[in-house]
Amino acid sequence: MASTRRVAVVTGSNKGIGFAIVRGLCKQFDGDVYLTARDEGLGKNAVEALKKEGLNPLFHQLDISDPTSIQNLKTFLHKQYGGLDVLVNNAGIAYKVDSPAPFAEQAELTLKVNFWGTLNVCDALFPLLRPHARVVNMSSMVSTMVYKGCSDAIKHRIKDPDITMDQIKDLIREFEFAAKANQVEEKGWLKSAYGTSNVGVRVMSFIQQRELSKDTQRPDVIVNSCCPGYVATDMSSHKGTKTIDEGAVTPLYLALLPPNVVSPKGEFVSEKMVEHWPS
Ligand SMILES: NC(=O)c1ccc[n+]([C@@H]2O[C@H](COP(=O)([O-])OP(=O)(O)OC[C@H]3O[C@@H](n4cnc5c(N)ncnc54)[C@H](OP(=O)(O)O)[C@@H]3O)[C@@H](O)[C@H]2O)c1
Repeated sequence: MASTRRVAVVTGSNKGIGFAIVRGLCKQFDGDVYLTARDEGLGKNAVEALKKEGLNPLFHQLDISDPTSIQNLKTFLHKQYGGLDVLVNNAGIAYKVDSPAPFAEQAELTLKVNFWGTLNVCDALFPLLRPHARVVNMSSMVSTMVYKGCSDAIKHRIKDPDITMDQIKDLIREFEFAAKANQVEEKGWLKSAYGTSNVGVRVMSFIQQRELSKDTQRPDVIVNSCCPGYVATDMSSHKGTKTIDEGAVTPLYLALLPPNVVSPKGEFVSEKMVEHWPS
């Protein structure tokens, strides 16, 4: 029989900010905490490192770009726990500025992991969310920069309070097509695959909250997206000004929001403060 123990999952947590989020949850969350990684060896090493600190995370493999891997985690959680209480969608990639990879390739892979991978994890795991569950989707302030650089027509679609999941998917697909055709700027976008994935995740989170708020069977499920700040990790080539534990502060705040808070809910949060799209 499934345990009724509370359970938290952090994606892409073998290193960087995700690792620090697991560390924080092990200290503050009342339940089991799963460190997940696409590479089992890296994940298990990370679990051992936290055990040396006296913490007790558990491990499960998860590659967010692999539907089978996502399904395996879903089956496991359903069987072991019958639900899910905290989901932090932290896994992500970013090409270096000087990457020689063609932009179309960068756009395809970045969106495959950061947008489509995160969305697929949500679609698979959201049915498991219990009342009062908390979901944190990692985005970034780069989303605001990209928004500012887009055409008025695209800005209008991003900011539409009635935007649907199909419409944000279409918008992301349009960016991917434009990247393949070498027409990103011509079509009204800023040339940033990473930033566009951050826009997508931010809008996705807003829509997810709107939908979950209608679910009367599961009250008080909250989804927010956030920026961790500029953090010294492999992604930032260790140029960030924050430590990974400092970067984990806002995601942890959102993952541990107390029951029945009114705000933040479906928001984008930076330094624990709600940020809106620029007017
Ligand atoms: N660092 C910053 O300044 C900053 C700023 C704003 C937002 N963020 C966001 O914060 C999150 C964490 O970034 P970070 O700086 O900690 O980066 P990081 O050190 O590069 O860590 C990224 C993590 O994601 C994992 N990952 C990548 N692709 C994956 C996949 N397909 N499936 C599962 N895991 C995958 C990586 O695993 P591997 O070890 O196997 O590659 C790694 O564990 C990202 O979403 C990033 O966009 C970071």
